[in-house]
Order: sequence, then C-alpha cells, then structure tokens
Amino acid sequence: MPALARSTIELRIRRQDTPSAAPRWEEFSLPQQPDMSVISCLMEIRKRPVTRRGAPTTPVVWDCSCLEEVCGACTMLVNGVPRQSCAVLVDTLPGGVITLEPLTKFLVVRDLIVDRQPMFDALRQVKAWLPIDGTHDPGPGPRLAESVREVAYEFARCMTCGCCMEACPQYHGRSDFLGPAPIAQVRLFNAHPTDALNVAERLETIMGRGGLADCGNAQNCIEVCPKEIPLTEAFGELGRQTLALGLKQLFRR
Ligand code: SF4
Ligand code: SF4
Ligand code: FES
Repeated sequence: MPALARSTIELRIRRQDTPSAAPRWEEFSLPQQPDMSVISCLMEIRKRPVTRRGAPTTPVVWDCSCLEEVCGACTMLVNGVPRQSCAVLVDTLPGGVITLEPLTKFLVVRDLIVDRQPMFDALRQVKAWLPIDGTHDPGPGPRLAESVREVAYEFARCMTCGCCMEACPQYHGRSDFLGPAPIAQVRLFNAHPTDALNVAERLETIMGRGGLADCGNAQNCIEVCPKEIPLTEAFGELGRQTLALGLKQLFRR
C-alpha cells in the first residue's frame, strides 16, 4: 500500500446556516485513511461533528448523488478551484490545510450547497431540448451523421456542474450573461437534424441581451471544465451561425 502523503487531514470549511446567515469558518482535523476523497472527509465529519479545537458543531451540509463525477451536484471550491468533491483525492492535493467553500456565483442554500437554478433557467431560455409533442409516434428519427454524432457526444457530456460559470468573469450577479454552459448547449441542440425548426429561435436568443456578445473570450471556462467540453469551439461555431442568420434576416427586409 503506498505511503499516505499526510497522517492527519486539516480542513477549513466555510459554513453558512441559511441563505441569509453570515458565513463563518470552521476547522476540522481527521486521521487520514487510504484513498480518501474530499467527500469521504465530509462523511467522516458527519459521523463526528467536532471542530479541531474539540467544540461540538452541526454536521457540514453538502450535495452529492453519483459519487463518480457524472452528476455535478457535489461541485464546490477545493482550495479555491471549482471541482467535483467526490473526485478529488486528498493525496493529490498539496500538503497543508484543505479549504472548502461553496461556489460563489450562485446563492448559498446551506454550507457547501448552492442553488444552481439560474443555470437551469438559462437552459430553458435557450430551449436546450428536442421538442417532441407526444401526440403521435414520431418514429425512429433521422440517422445522425458521424460528424454530428461526434459534436453531440462532446456537448452531451455537460453535467451542469457550474465550474465554467464559476470561472467566467462575465457571469456574475450584475450581468445578464447566460453563461458558457447554457450557450454551449445551443451548439448541441442546433446540430441535431430533428430540430431544424428551432435553430433560428435559439440563435436569436443568444444574439440578444446576455448572449454570445457578452463573452469576453477569456477562456477561463474551458480551463476548468472537468469534461473538457470544447466551449470556445461552440462559441466560434455559434458566432458563425448567428452571423449567417443576421445576414439572412438583413437581406430578407
Ligand atoms: S470564454 Fe471567457 S467570457 Fe466567454 S464564457 Fe468562457 S470564461 Fe466566460
Ligand atoms: S460545460 Fe463543463 S464546466 Fe460547464 S457546466 Fe458543463 S460540465 Fe460543468
Ligand atoms: S456526486 Fe456526482 S459529480 Fe460528485
């Protein structure tokens, strides 16, 4: 068995009891066990919620579901970087205190849980779905060309974790920007042959306020995406699609 990088894990966790409560920091100290992830540390704290100084406290609250970096629910700042806490192994972090904080671009519900609803609202705004009316059997649908399947596979891996929204300097409480993940989903759904009728509507949404033009091209989003989704490729392609639509609308007048 490989030697453990530390014998004790020191954690500093930003806590907040309710959305309107003042945040506070609490420190915890745990014996390290092999292959511990950040979530295993939180589970250990939940078993015995006592601070490093021995004061009893409430268990730290966090969100998770899949525990295999697929659902995005456990995303938080680990040492200041947005990551899935189920997938971060303690041994891969530098020595010293590990800091855990909730994402800063969403409202805190409690402790490390944030409300990612604005991201889902933005997905609704860009109509990130294939409309099937359900009144008749639509049949098997068109076969996807390999080039479309490749694009669809890349973008369908988005788990709405929010890492890209956290890293984007243009996405914040005072901006209307829809954010990188919802805009990139337009690339996915506009590529699908079943949904050619909604392509222009989606493009018009991202041509408007809070759309593509608000992206400053800093590329922080692509740096932090755990699924390595080609977000900036999406913005480039959508830029071409919106330009073509704009020209078409101009000449139609
Ligand atoms: S390229 Fe920069 S500004 Fe544009 S969505 Fe990504 S992080 Fe935000
Ligand atoms: S694009 Fe990547 S970082 Fe952004 S929400 Fe999707 S999976 Fe997360
Ligand atoms: S619990 Fe699903 S990504 Fe971590």
